Amino acid sequence: MESALTARDRVGVQDFVLLENYTSEAAFIENLRKRFKENLIYTYISSVLVSVNPYKDLEIYTKNHMERYRGVNFYEVSPHIYATSDNSYRSMRTERRDQCILISGESGAGKTEASKKILQYYAVTCPASDQVQTVKDRLLQSNPVLEAFGNAKTLRNDNSSRFGKYMDIQFDFKGAPVGGHIINYLLEKSRVVHQNHGERNFHIFYQLIEGGEEDLLRRLGLERNPQHYQYLVKGNCPKVSSINDRSDWKQVRKALTVIGFSEDEELMNIISSVLHLGNMQYGGDDGGSACITSDTQIKYLSRLLGVSGTVLTEALTHRKIIAKGEELMSPLNIEQASAARDALSKAVYGRTFTWLVNKINGSLAYTDESNKNSSVIGLLDIYGFEVFQYNSFEQFCINYCNEKLQQLFIELTLKSEQEEYEAEGITWEPVQYFNNKIICDLVEEKFKGIISILDEECLRPGDASDITFLEKLEDTVGSHPHFVTHKLADTKTRKLMGREEFRLLHYAGDVNYNVNGFLDKNNDLLYRNLKEVMCMSENKILTQCFDREELTDKKRPDTAATQFKSSLAKLMEILMSKEPSYVRCIKPNDSKQAGRFDEVLIRHQVKYLGLMENLRVRRAGFAYRRRYEIFLQRYKSLCPDTWPNWQGKLPEGVSTLVKHLGYKPEEYKMGRSKIFIRFPKTLFATEDALETRKQSLATKLQAGWKGYTQKTKYQKLRRSAIRIEAWWRGILARRRAQRRRKASDTIRRFIRGFIYRHQERCPQNEYFLDYVRYAFLMNLHRNAPKNVLDKSWPTPPPALTEASEHLRKMCMQNMVWTYCKKISPEWKHQMEQKTVASELFKDKKDNYPQSVPKLFVSTRLSTQTPTTLSLPIQFLLSFYDLLCIPSRSYAVPVTKYDRNGYRARPRQLLLTGDSIVIVEEGKMKQRIEYGALKGISVSSLSDGVFVLHVPSTDNKQKGDVVLQSDHVIETLTKVAICGEKADNVNINQGSITFALSQGKEGVIDFTPGSELLVAKAKNGHLAVVSTQTSG
Ligand SMILES: Nc1ncnc2c1ncn2[C@@H]1O[C@H](COP(=O)(O)OP(=O)(O)OP(=O)(O)O)[C@@H](O)[C@H]1O
Ligand SMILES: [Mg+2]
Repeated sequence: MESALTARDRVGVQDFVLLENYTSEAAFIENLRKRFKENLIYTYISSVLVSVNPYKDLEIYTKNHMERYRGVNFYEVSPHIYATSDNSYRSMRTERRDQCILISGESGAGKTEASKKILQYYAVTCPASDQVQTVKDRLLQSNPVLEAFGNAKTLRNDNSSRFGKYMDIQFDFKGAPVGGHIINYLLEKSRVVHQNHGERNFHIFYQLIEGGEEDLLRRLGLERNPQHYQYLVKGNCPKVSSINDRSDWKQVRKALTVIGFSEDEELMNIISSVLHLGNMQYGGDDGGSACITSDTQIKYLSRLLGVSGTVLTEALTHRKIIAKGEELMSPLNIEQASAARDALSKAVYGRTFTWLVNKINGSLAYTDESNKNSSVIGLLDIYGFEVFQYNSFEQFCINYCNEKLQQLFIELTLKSEQEEYEAEGITWEPVQYFNNKIICDLVEEKFKGIISILDEECLRPGDASDITFLEKLEDTVGSHPHFVTHKLADTKTRKLMGREEFRLLHYAGDVNYNVNGFLDKNNDLLYRNLKEVMCMSENKILTQCFDREELTDKKRPDTAATQFKSSLAKLMEILMSKEPSYVRCIKPNDSKQAGRFDEVLIRHQVKYLGLMENLRVRRAGFAYRRRYEIFLQRYKSLCPDTWPNWQGKLPEGVSTLVKHLGYKPEEYKMGRSKIFIRFPKTLFATEDALETRKQSLATKLQAGWKGYTQKTKYQKLRRSAIRIEAWWRGILARRRAQRRRKASDTIRRFIRGFIYRHQERCPQNEYFLDYVRYAFLMNLHRNAPKNVLDKSWPTPPPALTEASEHLRKMCMQNMVWTYCKKISPEWKHQMEQKTVASELFKDKKDNYPQSVPKLFVSTRLSTQTPTTLSLPIQFLLSFYDLLCIPSRSYAVPVTKYDRNGYRARPRQLLLTGDSIVIVEEGKMKQRIEYGALKGISVSSLSDGVFVLHVPSTDNKQKGDVVLQSDHVIETLTKVAICGEKADNVNINQGSITFALSQGKEGVIDFTPGSELLVAKAKNGHLAVVSTQTSG
């Protein structure tokens, strides 16, 4: 409650005791309405839980919700059925006192649902073992079975419980559910044979017909159509949209298995036999006696009930009378026979239902005798106050039951209030309330009460009837202030009453009861011969339901009302021995609609449930009371002396606190362990102050907390950073030290190696030597010569001299090889010629060096020249070209010095494949075959004059040929190559002698000079002055 005090404006108050205007019904209903609109279906009246049926699934019954309410102080959380359940459970555990939860409300208000929620809560939240799990399952599964047999669709509720139920859940000393026990009250048996329009018989009949397997139905002689059964057609409502009989059937079968049921067959036989009984056809003979017209049903009945067909037929149409000690069979008329049949159906069904409850009890029984320390929580799901247009015997019993429960409530509540005041040492202030004991007495008092009068009338021989009963009532209790009949009433009331009615002024309101059927219902008679037949049954269930002793027992069985009265008395005893909690269920509208809040209907229920009375009793003295520690704990922050902690005694602390808050003396009282606050407004003011205080406290706490978390975070980060830094520094230092150590080792090894470097390889110098080698090789790798002309080579260490030499050679070879691979055939040819030139002239002829860089070509003639060649010469040249022997063709302009006077004549020298041809302007002047060429002479100077020596015997030749070429090295090299005359080239110093024709000789004198000059000298020689010109 405390937790949500602040939300009171929007959603009303969570506890009606906090309503300022607690005597106003309108304020009460308004509070309910506000909360209902917000789907807050639960509200307290102190410890009483008021629940409004939401008619829709609310997400408030999840496991999480259960956990939220588990073990939490009742007042700390919002009202809930789980809070009530948990509170009872904890009281049972801590105080070792049995508990009971009384759930009441009118039909459809949600009593059964509430009891199921409580059961589920215990099943989920209580500790469990395997064995306990079985009990939990059985407890939960008992519901579908009891609902199938005891619930029916009515106009008010599609799943209306047609019996009262009290269920004990037994817990062992550890708080685990270990067993259970169910007591049923007043099953509405009349429903078996008759239903109002729009209502149904008990669910099980429809479930069997809809869901039963074909084989089963065949065996039972049933058809899959409820319309075929007289007991199922009265209400004309075989189908209900909210009910799925087929799946419910499966669930019931499963539940029966869980409970450990073995009498399936017998049970189904009984259910179907009731249907067959309903279909039995009666006809009348001439004397008006009833007879059964078709024996189909009898055949089935005899088999299903395990009785003789003839005996059953007779029992259904006759009545046994004992006259003067003699048994006589008196025939029944049709009406009587039908009544007898219906009585049998009701008796069979009603007793089977009780047997079923006992069977379930057997399965839930806690058998462990060694554990005597078990405690109990009882759940009472019983009909609330009922007021219809037409109220009969059943409503009378139900309303009587509610009077009893109200009395119990008043007694227990007032008692506990008074006890609390006494215990707390607070003077008791008398509470004004209506004590309904007077009504209970009116109904139940021995000899004088209505039930006694009814019983008397039932037992009285003679013409007792419902009307004589009414008259008797008028005679006996007519003067009672809570009893009125048509005859006794004033004119105003008389208008509202029938002549066959009596009115009881119940605590919750006035109800008129019609006496018709009271005697019969109270007698609940089953003819003796029908009982006898049932006692002969071979059906295992029926043999237990109809005890033979009943027949021999001369004592008349108790009437229905007396039975009910004693069962209620027992119930009261049970409840009185326990600590009660209350759940008051309210139905918001008659149309089973979600969200509709029918104020008239609700006001009616608030009145009939006595909620205003509840509230008045609760609020009689003080609206609020709490133990000192709880109060101080909650509000201590509102007073500087009690905040953050009060060190002294609790009452003093609370006293200091309330004084600080400015409570006036009439607003509160201090008990021994509790503070009592008279008005809700005092509490609300305190609560508002707390709310404001909470804000500032929250800000402070937040700031403190934020500071603390940030500081902790920072410190953690700092510690981590320092640790990482230290670790990293360590790594770096270790690495550095390692490097240094390695370096000093290396230096040491190096020096030692250097010292021992001239010795044989040994451990002392091997590192040094390897290093030197390595350094040399690396140096070589970097500085090796890049081309063949580069002759540089790094100086090797002594140990590598030989290897270096090898390497150098390999390197050179490699370069040469690479070079060779790269050169073209033309270049190769060039090189070959150059080689020959080198061999011939290097260091021998002065103009040789100038010729080296110049390329040798195949012709030095200008482009026009060949065209002027004569055809044979052209042919020759082209022939060699065709043969692709370019090396064998060469043309160069030369100067020829003739033999007489050495006159210079321009000529062209051609080299062909086999000869040297001298041509003058296209005309071949001279041809010297290579074979005829004896030698070639040339000077050592830098001139271009040379002599081709031919044999003097050759007549075709007119002596040696003196020629001058500007490209003398090239020309002579080509001649030497073409004519293969390399060995015949003579390089002369000073002069050359050459042959002229007819045995004469000529001389060429060579002298160095500043200017080239070739001329005939005075001595007749050819004088050549050679300059440094190109070769
Ligand atoms: N807490 C709830 N949440 C959702 N629906 C509910 C709740 N309580 C009751 N109902 C709805 O109301 C219907 C009637 O409830 P329930 O059977 O518990 O009524 P009852 O008080 O036991 O009536 P009766 O006296 O006829 O047995 C339920 O079938 C369900 O549809
Ligand atoms: Mg119910």
